[in-house]
Amino acid sequence: MNIPYRPLALGLLVIGFSALVLGRAQAGGGHFYAPVTDAVVKEECGSCHLAFAPSMLPARSWTRMMGDLQHHFGADASVDPVTAKKITDYLTTHAADQAGKRYGTKLLSGLPQSQSPLRITELPHWVREHREVAASEWKQSKVRSKANCTACHASAERGYYED
Ligand code: HEC
Ligand code: HEC
Repeated sequence: MNIPYRPLALGLLVIGFSALVLGRAQAGGGHFYAPVTDAVVKEECGSCHLAFAPSMLPARSWTRMMGDLQHHFGADASVDPVTAKKITDYLTTHAADQAGKRYGTKLLSGLPQSQSPLRITELPHWVREHREVAASEWKQSKVRSKANCTACHASAERGYYED
């Protein structure tokens, strides 16, 4: 078989969705944010949405978020204290502001040290990267929320976000 993976995947995904958005999200080289590998974190933080890569927020944001899982964007995501501690350790150890996080460091650019946002989608750099996405594209039935990364980034679960 000689079929390159990317064009094939692209062809399938374009069906029923804006070819323009997907084309832009998938062309070119990929930025890599290591996906969650811990089974507990994957289960507890990946049941309602994509288990967001820990290197997409600074440790202080994860600590803040883990401090109130009961009021988690209108959802109750609370877990027992032992599990919470385990998840917090994992997220903060692999956070964007830990050493060696090439793309994580980039994603934090422009974020003041004094701020601990709970949303990746509110990071100044994230907003900048998505400024060309039109309001109508965010509202597509396949997208609906900015947090729905996988709608446009087909390889998000594997950690790849492409330009
Ligand atoms: C009961 C469901 C549920 C569980 C479990 C859950 N979340 Fe969420 N999470 C939500 C909802 C709802 C939102 C808001 C989604 C939106 O805006 O579309 C959200 C949003 C987020 C965001 C912000 C996304 C953005 O806009 O950048 C992060 C980060 C996040 N969750 C991390 C976690 C982590 C870490 C865990 C595990 C401790 C977790 N979530 C578990 C429901 C959940
Ligand atoms: C409506 C579609 C859409 C959604 C939803 C979306 N993105 Fe994107 N994203 C794009 C597009 C399009 C680009 C490329 C922007 C450009 O090149 O102008 C992009 C670029 C990026 C980049 C930069 C990649 C690079 O190579 O520069 C990252 C990182 C990224 N997105 C992460 C995310 C994350 C994390 C989420 C979910 C929290 C998300 N995106 C949700 C469409 C989307």
